[in-house]
Amino acid sequence: MIGIFDSGLGGLTVVRSIMKHLAGYDIIYFGDTARTPYGTKSRETVIRYAHQNTEFLLDNGANIIIIACNTASSVATDSILEKYNVPIFEVISPAVELSLKMSKKYRIGVIGTRATIKSGIYEKKIKDQNAEAKVYSYPCPLLVPLVEEGWLAKPETRMIVKKYLLPLKTRQIDTLILGCTHYPLLKKIIQQKIGKRVTIIDSSIAVAGKVKEYFENNPGADKILTRNGKTRFFVSDVTEQFEKIAKSTLYQNVQLEHVKI
Ligand code: DGL
Repeated sequence: MIGIFDSGLGGLTVVRSIMKHLAGYDIIYFGDTARTPYGTKSRETVIRYAHQNTEFLLDNGANIIIIACNTASSVATDSILEKYNVPIFEVISPAVELSLKMSKKYRIGVIGTRATIKSGIYEKKIKDQNAEAKVYSYPCPLLVPLVEEGWLAKPETRMIVKKYLLPLKTRQIDTLILGCTHYPLLKKIIQQKIGKRVTIIDSSIAVAGKVKEYFENNPGADKILTRNGKTRFFVSDVTEQFEKIAKSTLYQNVQLEHVKI
């Protein structure tokens, strides 16, 4: 099974992309709704949670792991890679690769949680591949609670998005990385506010492309996965919000299974 974890419901955007790009493969999802958000927590805490989440998925039949959460990908990938002997995917590198492919001026904006932006990981990975690139990163902490509240098209949300994107507009970026699981759900507003000339990189789509590429380049590697079109959703706390957003993100009712981590 394809194991995917996130701090909560935002990782459903990754589930949606995986279902589209790798149709039919069985998925096991864990959303850490009891301990969300990760974006405001310390590095040590997020690393500890990421290990517990990975172990839960592996114990329950996952054969590969996708760290859907940008915050966990930013701070915990190295230690997860060190410890577990299964294919591990994170969301930062695929988004970086795609942004460098799409950008013409190499003026790249990144938005994410405070923890992700503070880690400097996007900037580092972009500069490792293109030292000339200019990277402008800004945290947008209000966007996660707005998405969780379902305020996807409210005037207040539009106003806040506009305010957050203003510094990036003045930097004349040509590419913007959505460095947080929740932001793809605001993609339309973000595109309107940043302008249609800016290419938006959705890390949920980028990571699905990467996983697909991995299986294409390693024939037979997908034999470890089962393919019955089944998805199980585990959460550490059953919330109404999760059910609501799951329905609007995946266009289906999902049955949540409660688990104590
Ligand atoms: N999943 C987190 C991320 O992508 C956003 C929500 C949180 O702060 O936990 O960074």
